[in-house]
Amino acid sequence: MAKPSGKVAYARMDEMTAEDFAVLQSYKDAYPPDPAGLALDMLAGLRASEDEHGRQVDRLEHSLQTASRAYRDEADEETVVAALLHDIGDVIAPYNHAAASAEVLRPFVSEETYWVVRHHGIFQAYYFAHYRGDDRNMRERYRGHPCYEKTIEFCDRWDQRAFDPDYDTLPLSAFEPMVRRLLATPRWRVY
Ligand SMILES: [Fe+2]
Ligand SMILES: [Fe+2]
Repeated sequence: MAKPSGKVAYARMDEMTAEDFAVLQSYKDAYPPDPAGLALDMLAGLRASEDEHGRQVDRLEHSLQTASRAYRDEADEETVVAALLHDIGDVIAPYNHAAASAEVLRPFVSEETYWVVRHHGIFQAYYFAHYRGDDRNMRERYRGHPCYEKTIEFCDRWDQRAFDPDYDTLPLSAFEPMVRRLLATPRWRVY
């Protein structure tokens, strides 16, 4: 494909023409978005130096271990990738990380997977919110929701167990092809 070289004429969007739009599209076609690469970059951003966290494993290792546990429990590929990427929102939204992670995944996964990742923060808070003086049972407000049990399970079996320095965690290379497959084609687009 020839490299695009055009330039738009507009300086404000209410002056954009169809020709301008075609110029933009030619760049999009030549340099398509790479959501898998972006997600993997965010994942890499969870790597932390030892003195930054006080846990026995950092958040990248935690993510790999969450995915390793899901994979060994024979979860489907979408769920394994969701387990790998469930905390990437921490890189841009440390006070709202579950929502940020879920939105990155949303165009590529089922409503159910989206819901689990979106709510895992509140469900996972069961294990520590009381130490902060909050209600550890905040997740109870979702009891009866079709994804309630699945989210409990996600946290119990994989997320909350994935802080073990002695666990045989799989390397990122085991999961990267899965990320690239799942995040290759969005099911829909939102402006
Ligand atoms: Fe989380
Ligand atoms: Fe987590």
